[in-house]
Amino acid sequence: MKLNDKAIYSPEYNIEKIITIETKTAALVLAVCQEKSLLTCHFGGKLDNPESYIATGKILKGEELPKSISAFGGSEHNATLRITHADQMISTELIYTTHVIKKIDNNRVETIITLKDKLHHLHVELHYLAYAAEDIIECWTVFENNEAGVITLHDYASFELAISNQTADYHMTSFFGLWEREASIQEEKLTFGIKTLENNFGTWSSFGFNPAFLLSTEGKSHEDFGEVISGAYAWTGSWKIDFNYNFNKLAHDSVQRQLLTVSATNQTVAADYHLNQGKSLTTPKFILNYSNQGTGKISRNFHQWSRQYNLRDGDSPRPIVLNSWEGAHFDYNEDVLIDMMDGLVKMGGEMFVLDDGWFGENEFARDSIYSGLGDWQVNRSKLPNGLEYLIEQAGKRDLAFGIWFEPEMVNPNSELFKQHPEWVIKQPERDNILYRQQLVLDLSNPLVQEHVYQSVANILEQHPGISYIKWDCNRSFTNFGSQFLSKNNQSHLWYDYVQGLYSVYHRIEKNFPKVILQVCASGGGRIDFGSLKYHHEFWASDNTDALQRVYIQWGLSHIYPAIACANHVSICPNHQTGRTLPLKFRFDVAMSGRLGLELKPSDLSETSLNFVQEAVKSYKLIREVVSKGDLYRIMSPYASDYSILSYLCEKKQKLVMFAYKLNHLLGQLMPTVKLKGISPSKSYLIEEINLRNNQPSHCLQNGVVMSGSDLISKGLRLNLNEEYDSAVITFIEHLRD
Ligand code: DGJ
Repeated sequence: MKLNDKAIYSPEYNIEKIITIETKTAALVLAVCQEKSLLTCHFGGKLDNPESYIATGKILKGEELPKSISAFGGSEHNATLRITHADQMISTELIYTTHVIKKIDNNRVETIITLKDKLHHLHVELHYLAYAAEDIIECWTVFENNEAGVITLHDYASFELAISNQTADYHMTSFFGLWEREASIQEEKLTFGIKTLENNFGTWSSFGFNPAFLLSTEGKSHEDFGEVISGAYAWTGSWKIDFNYNFNKLAHDSVQRQLLTVSATNQTVAADYHLNQGKSLTTPKFILNYSNQGTGKISRNFHQWSRQYNLRDGDSPRPIVLNSWEGAHFDYNEDVLIDMMDGLVKMGGEMFVLDDGWFGENEFARDSIYSGLGDWQVNRSKLPNGLEYLIEQAGKRDLAFGIWFEPEMVNPNSELFKQHPEWVIKQPERDNILYRQQLVLDLSNPLVQEHVYQSVANILEQHPGISYIKWDCNRSFTNFGSQFLSKNNQSHLWYDYVQGLYSVYHRIEKNFPKVILQVCASGGGRIDFGSLKYHHEFWASDNTDALQRVYIQWGLSHIYPAIACANHVSICPNHQTGRTLPLKFRFDVAMSGRLGLELKPSDLSETSLNFVQEAVKSYKLIREVVSKGDLYRIMSPYASDYSILSYLCEKKQKLVMFAYKLNHLLGQLMPTVKLKGISPSKSYLIEEINLRNNQPSHCLQNGVVMSGSDLISKGLRLNLNEEYDSAVITFIEHLRD
């Protein structure tokens, strides 16, 4: 044997089994080799014949295929799984034992692959739930300890994807963002090394980064073409997604390939998990998405999947809400609220939501952020006739009624804190660290879970007229530690808190199925598919400035559906940025998702109120298609002075387009807007809606019927001539007689 013989360096695998997990256009191909390792052979477009692809030997001879789950000591790549076993051994080597394939219905197939450690009684189940039509694979892992004692999970991933593609030019898009500037898009070329997206807030999932990414394999991503792999992590707590770009370490020189491993975990820092004998741990779910038609298709996949499987009542358009926060803050009484309801009725709105400030009594009255959190009884000094009176008044006006809660939190100035100081998150001997004057209740404690559930349930039971809850969460963990968890299990806090939260969400959903739930966390701090499963919508941001909202909503639209994105029109100058924008622009921006209002109607002039009435009517015309239609993004605010997007209904008879001008410069060239997705063989009547009184249309073809084919190839001529000009244009199928 020559010294550089391939066989010296790398094993040749004899493949025993191929396991293919398929959707409409994608395939994840795994193989079990003779040595019983589970290997990842392919993720990408569907293969005509996976068996021949793998068996040609072109892949396997003389090169190492990556293990599907890289265990410390049992894998040559960076380990995503690291365990100390009951006998204190620190290495793990997983081998395949069996797999089952379960057909759930015509769209869904679940594949479960079971592995075990070669030496220890540790069982690992890899779950892959494929949604064919949506090109989504939901992936998670279950660890079961059958060893003779406690094991410690130091690191584990929900899912690990190894892709080896010699010609790849990976560009990764992430959604960086902080309070009031959520989901800013950034795209970067992945170079060798490790890139990590991470969030360590404990209670929040989507400040810092939203837990999602897009990975274009062929250079910079494009909206309409090219291969894009995407992932979203369904977890409402801390998380980490690693992109480890390296090479096949065991492969022979002549066949070494670049290897990208993407892994997602809920374990960040100090989150070791001890599993007692006989116990198991299920990881959060990772939502894997595939497109060979650019990022636009990725978004439509996520939206369709989530509306059908991962969002409550994903097919019923949401009511138009007026939320009291920016209009009144803590400063209201019954008259103020009823006046707001009257204004909402005039506007044509459908639901009044009472935000923060309605609870806590006497010295603990919630009249500011300093007191009351935890005391979920109505403040009778402020609202002498209770919530029942407000609900009755709303009912008389044909308005639904909703209410704000922040039940995971407590102010030190509260009855609850006086009674249960031991319920807050902190290390026993350390001081409380306040943030927004509040502390986090320790949801790893079942007593606290019960209390939090009862706080909300009591109010709902006593007031069956409440049909909406805004569930807020305004701080993250500090002073990490639990006064409930044992000394040895302090590091369980991160995982157990979120599981405790989910158990409360689950009971609320089960026992109050008709109540609409909005997830809010200082704005967009909990926008993830873990929380959305229990909610109807999310509050996208505390920033209601329509110009910044264009960017925030654009970012979020890549992953989350418009029906769930609550956008409220607020007063000018805007409370957050101080900017003044036209009322029409503010409406046109908010109408591209779930429209609502965040103002005191009496602060509007008669002319503005008239416009609002018409705008709400316009929204009702398009609400169905915005809520359930397919999103086609046309012009990015990141790449131009415009932002243009559209929603197309399923049968392609109706499209609504939103166009915004973000920056006005002399000599600026007007875009021609080419439509996407519509049927080339249909004709469409073009009509601009939501114009101000006597305002001429922005569209030169307004009122004209055009063929789908011309709209796709020639496009629409738009005139957005002024700063913050905007247009909402409908295209309705025109049937010729
Ligand atoms: C933060 C939320 O994001 C706001 O909308 C509002 O509900 C406040 N909390 C109330 O304290």
